[in-house]
Amino acid sequence: MSCASAVGKIILFGEHAVVYGRPAIAVPVSDVRATVTVESAERGAGITVVARDIGRTIRMGEAAADEPLTFTVRNTLTCLACDERALDLNVTITSTIPVAGGLGSGAAVAVALIRALCAHLGRPLDAAQVSALAYRTEMLFHGTPSGIDNTVIAYEQPVYFKKGYPIETFAVRTPFWLVVGDTGRPGLTKESVADVRAAWQRNPTHYNALFDTIGHLADRARQAIEAGEIALLGPLMSENQACLRELDVSSPELERLIAAALAAGAAGAKLSGGGRGGNMIALVTPERAARVQAALYEAGAKQVIVTGVGV
Ligand code: PMV
Repeated sequence: MSCASAVGKIILFGEHAVVYGRPAIAVPVSDVRATVTVESAERGAGITVVARDIGRTIRMGEAAADEPLTFTVRNTLTCLACDERALDLNVTITSTIPVAGGLGSGAAVAVALIRALCAHLGRPLDAAQVSALAYRTEMLFHGTPSGIDNTVIAYEQPVYFKKGYPIETFAVRTPFWLVVGDTGRPGLTKESVADVRAAWQRNPTHYNALFDTIGHLADRARQAIEAGEIALLGPLMSENQACLRELDVSSPELERLIAAALAAGAAGAKLSGGGRGGNMIALVTPERAARVQAALYEAGAKQVIVTGVGV
């Protein structure tokens, strides 16, 4: 039996603008994980994928071509030059990453699946190859993904991401803490990305300027993180949230949690990921974390985790 896992992720700065070539920053979150086991099945059984958390069992030959799990298995086997008809495997997926929460659950499942298949077949791929394969699955989910999710999850390091440029990982000089609050409403990444695109097409000048502002915030945030100037990050997060609001990708639920976090002493807060639901993040000192966590539950958060970056 082979087993592999992949972490979740948080976009700290730059979502949406990243689709238009501006930089964004994302970090891995190891508090949540997708895990995949691959076992040999009886001869002639073929490949069966079991996604335990969503109660699905999918047989390879019977799935639609765009079913994301079998799509990922097929792409991986093709990449490894393995004939899927010659393999008898039971593939089991479990995950603690909330689905459609902006924490990269789809990309993490894809990365864990690719890693577990590679391990089982004794054919390891490097992070760039794993990321490229997972990107193909992301395209099924999101239509025009920037590639930031599969990159940060495959590399498992803080990533400064700019579409079309080589991947840059970077160091976190001084650790910092985030409280991550789940609105309980699914994020609508595909929809919000499509709406932003339509708005951008109607008024490119205005939206390009907004994307530029967001990109500059991501650049300044990277400098602050590398210099250990954590106090600068809170205001930058709140400025980024103001731009996301203007892009119309926030929601009343996200705004309620963001306001609650700030009132409880967070240094800055914003949505993370596609928006319209999913998760928000708040920058806190370790002393404030419990207070902000409690305030978020009180404001209706479904789940709240506290995670350290660079810890
Ligand atoms: O909702 P998530 O976690 O998949 O993040 C989407 C981030 C966007 O910038 C909105 C889209 C993208 O492809 O980068």
